[in-house]
Amino acid sequence: MSTGKTERHVGKPVDRVDGRLKVTGQAKYAAEYPLDRLAFGALVQSTVSKGKIKNIDSSAAEKLPGVVCVITYKNAGKIPPKPLSDFDDSLHLLQDNVIYHDRQTIGVVVADTFETATHAASLVKVDYDEVAPNVVMDKNLAKARFAGNKKESTTKRGNFDNAQQAAVFKVQRTYSTPQEIHSPMEPHATTAYWDNGKLVVYESTQAIFNTRNKLAKAFGVSPADVRVITNFVGGGFGTKLMTWSGCILAALAAKQSKRPVRLALTRANLYGNTGHRPQTVQTLSLCADKDAKLLGIRHDCVSSTCTFNDFVEDGTEASVMLYRCPNVVTSAKVVPLDLGKPIWMRAPGHCPGTYALECAMDELSYEAKIDPLKLRQINYADKDESNGLPWSSKSLDKCYDKGAELFRWHERNPVPGSMKKGNRLVGWGMSSTTHPTFRMKASAKLNMNSDGSVSIRCGTQDIGTGTYTIMTQIAADTLGLPLEKVAFHLGDTEMPEAPMSGGSMTAATAGSAIHAVCEAAVNKLAAQAGADKQSPLMGAKLDDIEAVRGGLYLKSKPETGESYSAILARSGSGSSFEVSASAAPQDEAEKHSKHSFGAHFAEVEVDPELGTIRVTRFVSAVSAGRILNPKTAGSQVKGGIIYGIGMALTEELIHDEKTGRTLNADLAEYHIPVHADIPNIETIFIDEEDNIVNPIGVKGIGEIAVIGVAAAVANAVYHATGKRIRDLPITLDKIM
Ligand code: MOS
Repeated sequence: MSTGKTERHVGKPVDRVDGRLKVTGQAKYAAEYPLDRLAFGALVQSTVSKGKIKNIDSSAAEKLPGVVCVITYKNAGKIPPKPLSDFDDSLHLLQDNVIYHDRQTIGVVVADTFETATHAASLVKVDYDEVAPNVVMDKNLAKARFAGNKKESTTKRGNFDNAQQAAVFKVQRTYSTPQEIHSPMEPHATTAYWDNGKLVVYESTQAIFNTRNKLAKAFGVSPADVRVITNFVGGGFGTKLMTWSGCILAALAAKQSKRPVRLALTRANLYGNTGHRPQTVQTLSLCADKDAKLLGIRHDCVSSTCTFNDFVEDGTEASVMLYRCPNVVTSAKVVPLDLGKPIWMRAPGHCPGTYALECAMDELSYEAKIDPLKLRQINYADKDESNGLPWSSKSLDKCYDKGAELFRWHERNPVPGSMKKGNRLVGWGMSSTTHPTFRMKASAKLNMNSDGSVSIRCGTQDIGTGTYTIMTQIAADTLGLPLEKVAFHLGDTEMPEAPMSGGSMTAATAGSAIHAVCEAAVNKLAAQAGADKQSPLMGAKLDDIEAVRGGLYLKSKPETGESYSAILARSGSGSSFEVSASAAPQDEAEKHSKHSFGAHFAEVEVDPELGTIRVTRFVSAVSAGRILNPKTAGSQVKGGIIYGIGMALTEELIHDEKTGRTLNADLAEYHIPVHADIPNIETIFIDEEDNIVNPIGVKGIGEIAVIGVAAAVANAVYHATGKRIRDLPITLDKIM
């Protein structure tokens, strides 16, 4: 980005450009598009967890006034119409009578109103042949196997067994994490209609192009005949990376009823049907020499999956690279259970995996009688030992120092149970966090108007993270425009293609494309002006020119140049000035290991009589390349920490052992933190100049913050109480 005298926006805490639309209710979400003759869908969900539908009788529902149609496996038709080898077969699309899990979608009712559809859905009578389900992880651990029945999928370096023999300090512990559910504020929703064989879908998704392609396959039409629009998303956290059955069935309902159909899932519909973070049972063995330098790490992770699809929650990824260690073995296996399909949930793998690793590190610190932070510092990895590559940048050392300083970690008494406030026990715990930096190819298009303002289009998504805002900032700075002169549009498959918003890669991916298309516009206009006798820039080379103050000016003589509108007025292109560009990962980046890093510090207070745990302070220091906007980035970090506190203390989706039915399928019983549960959170960004990761130097922050939080809290609980709870969530009954 050029450095001119115009106001710079990147790096500033710019307010959300879409904030006003959101707080005034003008921002339209997928279930808010009023269409003529709109009909409403409601799901019928199974009330058993395994077996077959013996009989399904929808006649009473069909007779209800206002009901348009009832779709079950008897009349859904073939999806896809012809078998496709690459069609995702892990969805339940009313193709047969088999029940794989509790609450499986077994029908859709369409009616004139949502209330009628909901009532009619309750009138669908179902008889089942029920089979006893297996839903308990602990009882099925012996069935653990590698995904896809592969013989092996492990990482190995050095010789762990020899390291174990040579070691002075050792820990071997087993940690478990429960099934969690994403719980976005906006449940999944679809509004679909068909127009002359073409399908238009308003969808709450993190991946508009993937959704388009899946719908095209499901209905045997060309992707060009499907349009997916997603202007706003009320949270995704991974569950909206998938196109679930609801989206496809809404489009089917629109086709069968020949009306636009809105299928807005209720909170209760989400459980079982829209993925979850699977359970894990992880065994960690760490061993170290007399100076507490790691000699060996062994990390075996078993995660639950469903019976019809192997989803691997591989928790071992940080164990191979976070610390310097010559001997490492890891494995990741699955146990199939009669549950819905698991899916990525914010920092998949890393989140439960780093919980286990960072608790084990804490346990090792007590074995070796060394400060937990010091243990991390003396095992600092100067390169990525999993692949031998140098880091593109790494500031974890500064995260440790700055975070510890702000938290006042040096005032910690190392003895568990030694710190008190009134009758409450106080505990301080910490952890490291790391997440890989991803990037994919993305494209964008820029149109400049005769007044020099621009419209930029890129088919990416804003999943609540601030994409609209940071893309506007990047464009404004690259073009030398004020924010008001940039209109950034996203979320429509008629726009240039961009990938899913997942893996914390949207800022790097779409941001690089926006940067590229703005540079292309500057280059084109500079070439035009430089070749134009009437321009004060006649003869100037691109390198001599910078984009500032709404136009192009000489770097050496800032008063010489002209506005974009002047260049456009003479060129005759007027308001039709248009450029397109793509940006894809570079070779240089492939020669480096690219990660964001951070350090968390947690304080808890525990009531020893009631077992209640309050997180009373939380400090995080995060290094993630250039921070485009400390306000939206800071919100993401805080959100991640809150997500992690929920994981540590309250969140657990529970199924009845005998029936397999979900016991806490609502927000009253599945406990996510509320305001009163959350302390003052202090976040620090360690700014990094990283010219290798991507042209704009950003690493992504969607996932880095949540990783390690549960470990920091669990370690603080141990420090407060001397009780090591290795089974999340740490509820009061486990403390008593
Ligand atoms: Mo994330 S689980 O990549 O939305």
